[in-house]
Parts: sequence; C-alpha cells; structure tokens
Amino acid sequence: MAFCMRGRVAMLRVAHPPVNSLSLAARKALMEGIDAAEREGAQALVISGAGATFPAGADIAEFSNGGHLVAPTLNCLVERLHGLRIHTVAALHGTALGGGLELALACHWRVALPSAQLGFPEVGLGVLPGAGGTQSLPRLVPLDVAVQMVTSGSPLSADAALAAGLVDELLPPAAAANAADAAASGGYSLAARLAPLPFDPSRSLPLRPAPTAPGGADAFFSEAAARVRHGARGLHAPLLALEAVRAAVEAPTYAAGREAEAALFLQLAAGEQAAALQHAFFAERAMSKARGGGEAADIARAAVVGAGTMGCGIAMCFANAGVAVTLVEVGEAALARGLEGIRAVYEASERKGKLPGGVEARMRLIGGATTLDVPALREADIVVEAAFEQMDVKKEIFGKLDALCKPTAILASNTSYLDIDEIAAATSRPQLVAGMHFFSPAHVMPLLENVKGKQTSSDTIATIMQLGKRLKKKAVLAGNCNGFIGNRMLEGYVAEALFMLEEGCTPSEVDAAMRGFGMPMGPLEMSDLAGNDIGYMARRNHPRPTERYAGGIADRLVEMKRRVALGQKSKAGWYDYSAGKKPRDDPAVQALIEGYCREHNLVRRQIAEEEERCCLRAPTPPARPQPQPPPRVRTIKSATTQSPLPPQVVDRCLLPLVNEGFKVLEEGIAQRESDIDMVYLFGYGFPRYKGGPMYWARHIRPGGLPKVLSDLEKYGAVHTNVSHWKPAELLLKVASDVTATSKL
Ligand code: 3HC
Repeated sequence: MAFCMRGRVAMLRVAHPPVNSLSLAARKALMEGIDAAEREGAQALVISGAGATFPAGADIAEFSNGGHLVAPTLNCLVERLHGLRIHTVAALHGTALGGGLELALACHWRVALPSAQLGFPEVGLGVLPGAGGTQSLPRLVPLDVAVQMVTSGSPLSADAALAAGLVDELLPPAAAANAADAAASGGYSLAARLAPLPFDPSRSLPLRPAPTAPGGADAFFSEAAARVRHGARGLHAPLLALEAVRAAVEAPTYAAGREAEAALFLQLAAGEQAAALQHAFFAERAMSKARGGGEAADIARAAVVGAGTMGCGIAMCFANAGVAVTLVEVGEAALARGLEGIRAVYEASERKGKLPGGVEARMRLIGGATTLDVPALREADIVVEAAFEQMDVKKEIFGKLDALCKPTAILASNTSYLDIDEIAAATSRPQLVAGMHFFSPAHVMPLLENVKGKQTSSDTIATIMQLGKRLKKKAVLAGNCNGFIGNRMLEGYVAEALFMLEEGCTPSEVDAAMRGFGMPMGPLEMSDLAGNDIGYMARRNHPRPTERYAGGIADRLVEMKRRVALGQKSKAGWYDYSAGKKPRDDPAVQALIEGYCREHNLVRRQIAEEEERCCLRAPTPPARPQPQPPPRVRTIKSATTQSPLPPQVVDRCLLPLVNEGFKVLEEGIAQRESDIDMVYLFGYGFPRYKGGPMYWARHIRPGGLPKVLSDLEKYGAVHTNVSHWKPAELLLKVASDVTATSKL
C-alpha cells in the first residue's frame, strides 16, 4: 500500500499483486491509509490500484470460513469510507470487480480509464456482493441495470458504466504499462478540483433515497425473477442476489437493506454451491500449470491436416488467435467444402456482431493446400493432424510430416483415443510429438487435452500448454492412455447407460435423469451428438471379451439397415432429429430395445422406482427362455423437465466415472484430482456448481468417498462381470484415510 499527500489530497494506492484482492493485509493497510489521511488533514482522498488493476474483489481464499472474514472486514472498510466527511474519489483501471467495486461505490466519485471493466462476478462464486453492493448500486444506476449486473455477473465496460451513471468521468486512454499512473493522476485532478469545495453529503449513497421499481415492485421483481431463474440453470446465487436488490427497494432504511444483504450473503457463503464454485475458480487456474518445467517456443505458423469438422474448427482456433494456418486436405472439393464451412461460421458470427475485424481478416489467415508438400507446411512451427481416427492412417501421415517439416516443428495429433507413443514411433522426432485433443466443435468448446507421450519433451509440453492459452482454451496436461482423461472416464458412464436400456429404462429416462442432475445432455444424447459410430468403433478397437458387453443394443442401432442411425448428423440415433436438433422419442428405437431384450430374455423392470432391487438385481439373462411381460414404456414429459427420477440412474452412470477418475490419477494420467474436475466442466458440461465429478463424489454426494466406495462394492457384488465397479486402489486408500480422519 502506498500513501502520500499531494497538497490537500491524500493518495492511497492498493498494492497486493497480482489483482490487488482485498485480503486482510490489504484491508488493514487501507484502514491505516484512511486514518493517515484524516491525521494529515486531507480534504480529499483518492483510492487507486497499483499494477494491472483496481482491486478485483475480496480475497476468495479467505472465504473458506463460510464467508466470515477476519476484521477489519470489507464491511468495516466500507463503513469507514461512508463515515468520512471529505471528498473521496475511486480511480479505476483494469478490473474493478466485486469487493473492489464496492470499495469504489463507498467513495463519492468514480473516474475510470476507457479500458476498465466494472462488475459484480460474485454469483459465479456462489455468493452475492456482500459489502453493500446490492444496496448502493441501485441508488446510483437504473434498477434494471443494477439487477442485470448483480444477477448475471457480467461486467460493464467503462463506456456503459458512464452511460449508466456508475462512473462520473472517463479519463483519456492510456497504455497498459501506464494505466495505474494514468488512473491515479486522473483521480488526483478531480480530487484537487473538489478539495476547496464543501463536502456534498448527497454523493454518499447510503444517504440517497431508496430506488423505486418501474411499474411497482411486485410486477418488476416477479418478471425479473422469471428471467433470472431461466438463466441461472440450477445456481442459487442469482435469485438470492435479486432478493437482495429487492431489499434495497423495500427495506425501510439503507441499514436494514444492508442487514438483509448480509443475511443472504452468509446463507449463500455457507452453502455447497459456493464451496464448489470456489473450488472451480482455483482449479481452473491450476489446470494450465504443467509440472516439469520446459521452455515454450513461439508459434508463428501452423498447419492442420484434415478439413473435416474437427480440422476446420482447429484451423479457426488458430486464425482467431491471429496465427496464420494452412489447412491441408486431399482433393480440391473436400478442401473447398471445408473452407466454405469456415466462411459460413464466420459470416454467421459477423451477422450477430461477434466478429471483430470481419470475415475477410480471418479468412486471410487461413490458407488451403491439397498436398503436404507445400512451403507453408514445411515452414510451420506446429502441425496438428485431424485426419481419420485410424492408427495406420495417422502413422502414414506422421511419417510424411516428419520427412517434410522443419526439424524443430511440433507434430501433434488430435486423436481422441489412439496411442501417442505408437504415432510418435512413426517419426524420427518423438520428443516433438504430442496429442492435442480438441473437443467438438473445436472453435467453440473450451477444453484442450494436451497429451504427453513417453518421449515428449518438457519444452514441447510447455509450448503446447502456452499455445492452448493463446488459443483461449482451457488446456490441461494428460498422460497417454486409451481416451486420455475425459473419454477414458466416459467408458463406464456410457456403458451403464446402455445396460440400463437392457434392464428397463428408455433412452429419455436415462438422459432426463442426467439432465436433472445438471448435465447439459444425457449420455445417449451425447452419443448422438458425437456420432454413435465412434462408440461402435471404440468397442471394436478395445474389446473386453470377458465382460458383460455394453454395446448389444447400440451396435444394432448403428447397423440398422433401414437408415444410418449415427446420431444427429444422420438425423436419427437414439432419438429422432428429423424435425430439428431437439431430440424426440423414436418408437422404432424403443421397438429395437424391446426386441433385443426379448431375444436375449432380459426382463425389463422399473429401474428408476425401486432403488434397492435395482441396485442389487443381477443383470444376467435367465438361463432358459421365458415368456416376457410386456415391456413398460414410460414417457418423460420434455427434454427440459427436471427429472423426477431418484438418484440411482445418476449413480450408475457417475460412480464408474469417478472410480475411473481415481485410476487415472493413480496412473499419473492426470496431474491433479482437480484437473479431472476441470476436464468435465469444460469438456462435458458437468455443472460448475457441483465442482466436477471428483469434487462431487468427495464433498457433495452424501457420505463422501467412503460411501462412494461402499456403493461401488455393492454394485460390484451384483455386476460381477463388469470391471468398472472394481474400486481403484487409490480410492480404497483415500476413502480409508477419510474414514480414519473422521474418527479422530
Ligand atoms: N481472490 C484471490 N485470488 C485471486 C482473485 C481473488 N479475488 N482473483 C484472482 N486471483 C488469483 C488467481 O487465483 C491467480 O492466482 P495464481 O496465479 O496463483 O493462479 C492470480 O490471481 C491471477 O488471476 P488470473 O489468472 O485469473 O488473472 P487474469 O489476469 O486472467 O484475470 C481477473 C484477472 C479478471 C481479475 C480474474 O482473476 C478474476 O476474475 N478474478 C476474480 C474476480 C472476482 O470474482 N471478484 C469478486 C470476489 S468475491 C467478492 O468480492 C465478495 C464481496 O462482494 C464481499
């Protein structure tokens, strides 16, 4: 913290890198600075931030105590500023977020650089602004703007903040390196003008009248609640944040509104969603940190081999990051189709106003070639192969690339399952070979699994991790195994969904249960999206001859003669997509399932409704054919209804996935347990407010890991010929440690 007097103006600068979060030390220093300003007889006070930003919020690491901060709390600081009778100016640059913005609102004036962002991201951490933000903001800006900021978490640009009345003055632009000084000196020049003038109490937000709701509070807040509930997707915080804003309108005094806000804040801060979201905040930042050092090389030119959906998406990622890229595809027609597809995506973004610089600027960065032997490929710093998912195809391409590319070029494969070491063995540079597994559609999905082979060098890893950041991906480092982290863990998840079809569920029952849990889609909808042919091939490439076979019905679906049931891309899969992307139940699929069950003497039952029986019933078909009862077909109302099903469908899908997560961890395929969580958040849409599958199993599912273990054992005792119920060694150890600790 830096404090100095400039004439009658006290200058206070928060210095707590990297984001000036308002930790205990920062709060103490601010309090001392305010005391010093009073001692020195200052007539105005400027608060600004050092380095990259004005304070970006409370220190999230201090939230572990259910939101109770050690004094002086942010509230003490805000009260202290409210009590001052001198002019106070917040000088904003960078990101004035959360508690940082509350600090600014406790000042009488706010000036900002045009590049500044102002917002209340608290709902994304499962809480709400807890230091007066929900009471002060609506006294300053229109009520709908306040509601939007507090409930969505989205920041306002400085321009928009000026228009809303949140900022009083925009300062001239400044280069990032000078931003802190420029903001402070802009703050000083306003403070110096104010210093000789009498203090104006109407600038103090607690002294302003309560806001009124246009059209009356009931109508305004019930309409807002409907909108917020829709956008919240299971998150509690936005609705409680709305309640806090309502208190600003309806509480008899500012202080009473603050009390309501504090109660709602503590309610949220003590909840499991807040803990899960805060876990996700730190895990998201940890995932990009690859252990093992290494020096990243710069990537100036890239090439992508294969102009299918994945190849085109990857090429767009490079172009979007400003990296020149050449797309290689055999055959003019296929290449042209790929490039046209890319252009169409860019044109659609431009129509929505979401393509700064326009279509041509992006297209100029993407070249095309129909052979590998072109200068652009020979000069590329990295080549990402996104060709057909078959080992011999990949090996041939890598052999050719090795011969053509410059010796320092990294050769990466976008394979989702195949062995990186075997691919690397087709080259003379295994240290420069790695996996870069993008998720489809690659230009949209945030996750990137960077896969390390046995011989991949640490410099290669550092380079592709840095490249991931540049491509705006959530990059995670994975070890080499079938399916890496994400897809490997999916095997048991999908297998159980398929077993449950044999045992009595309909596809929409299974999917609705997983959607009810919070997944954006169920396992069968996901298979339709990816293409059912992928699972079909995976079952052939990795047979498990000694185990119960999961693909009986799924194989038939793909092999159906009357159509190609590959999923969304063929408008038919587990569901009917003939009328659009919304899945509709398909009687032909139900008939296929029931026919298969009849043929194999599988007795269908009500899995969802009889928990114990369901858990404990052996799935093996009876030895002799028996007359079958007519299969029960229940319909789930709509794809978006909350699942009424009890949790065993969820357990049967998720427990094998978590168990595999522990195997992934014990084999060193993932660097950290939290990386696995992030793979599922960013690659599969696992609900962020549940923290990820490993976090859910450890902290949210009742009974924690000891119960996960005992349930795995319970299922495993029945499903004896399915290996995904066999507990991972690491889970056995961790669960027993948890049990031992809980007995202390
Ligand atoms: N508390 C603690 N640590 C924080 C933090 C915070 N509020 N914000 C960022 N950090 C840490 C990160 O964990 C990271 O640490 P690491 O280097 O050890 O991994 C480091 O600061 C840098 O963060 P980023 O990598 O995210 O840096 P970027 O430059 O990419 O982004 C940012 C900067 C936009 C400020 C981003 O960090 C961010 O969004 N931070 C959180 C802001 C926020 O949510 N504020 C509200 C907090 S809740 C609150 O204020 C409650 C109040 O109302 C009572």
